[in-house]
Amino acid sequence: MPNVTNIANPAATGLGPVMGIESSCDETAVAVLDAGGRVMAENVLSQLDDHAKFGGVVPEIAARAHLAALPDLVRLTLSQAGIGVQDLRAVAASTGPGLIGGVIVGACFGKGFAIAAGKEFVAVNHLEAHALTARLPGLMAGPVEFPYLALLISGGHCQCVAVEAVGRYRKLGGTIDDSVGEAFDKVGKLLGLGWPGGPAIEKIAREGNAAAFALPRPLRGRAGCDFSWSGLKTAVAQLVAKYPAGALPRPLVADIAASFQQAVVEVMEDRVDHALAMYPRAKLLVVGGGVAANLAIRDGLERVVAQHGARFVAPPVRLCTDNAVMVAWAALERLAIGVYDGLEAAPRPRWPLEELRF
Ligand code: KG4
Ligand code: ZN
Repeated sequence: MPNVTNIANPAATGLGPVMGIESSCDETAVAVLDAGGRVMAENVLSQLDDHAKFGGVVPEIAARAHLAALPDLVRLTLSQAGIGVQDLRAVAASTGPGLIGGVIVGACFGKGFAIAAGKEFVAVNHLEAHALTARLPGLMAGPVEFPYLALLISGGHCQCVAVEAVGRYRKLGGTIDDSVGEAFDKVGKLLGLGWPGGPAIEKIAREGNAAAFALPRPLRGRAGCDFSWSGLKTAVAQLVAKYPAGALPRPLVADIAASFQQAVVEVMEDRVDHALAMYPRAKLLVVGGGVAANLAIRDGLERVVAQHGARFVAPPVRLCTDNAVMVAWAALERLAIGVYDGLEAAPRPRWPLEELRF
């Protein structure tokens, strides 16, 4: 005899909404998606102001800020979604990779919430969440089928991955030193543009001459699709050191920023050109991570992808940067195939995508 109350409760049918929590770096985010992946509510709190005065993310400050923000953010997001805790099917959190303090906060908060509410917990790999964002319903016209390529370019990551299926990822190449976001941030500091450097460099580069300075294009033309950014950053440091100490004149800053960005664009184009040749089955490239907000990089990638007869997906910036929509969506993908880590999952500062293979 079915329990009528339970049937009326969407969570009891297994088709209830999923709440995602993101806290692996300096964004605290919560989102609720319905069973079909439609966004019911989402919020992102950036901690930029907390960290800017230190010139970068301070892990301990980030972890404490996540802990302080999460309870109210969860309450707000559930009420915006118009549901109560009892309506949820599952709670998901990024349990790695990321800054360990923040990852512990998100994982423990999510697990505690799930246990108290009697819901399932889904441990989400943050990189998998970025890689699966392209499949979020409504993002692209038509379904996004496997396989495809994902280029993850952020402050913490720089890698190109073949996405063969949920849980099946093959890294085609990655950085051998800094992430590309780090390069933008370090060059931003050298140019006196503050932190984070990426948006400031992109902005001032529009005033500059991209051919003003001949900067290196690390690994361009080299086999494979690894990346290396520290030499480019050092070249900018050496260039800046040639000028008298103190603030550089704005036109000079603009020329250096434009020349640096142009070098990044050309390297990105070359590396992705190689990745598409290494994995011709991919008919689509999706970008993720904060650096994917950069329009010059997007334009460059779009050109290369078109030459391979493939499609290019650049999600809106709020879905490229860290957010909880992608966490809830990755959890839905995992729940759909019934393969996921639950309460037993430990927070992990490192968690390569290849380790997800089952
Ligand atoms: O994905 P994200 O918000 O955070 C993590 O790294 O997890 O990425 C932040 C990085 C920073 O290094 C920032 O400088 C860079 O993305 N970034 C940009 C732009 N916007 C953000 N880099 C280049 N151009 C931009 N418009
Ligand atoms: Zn991220």
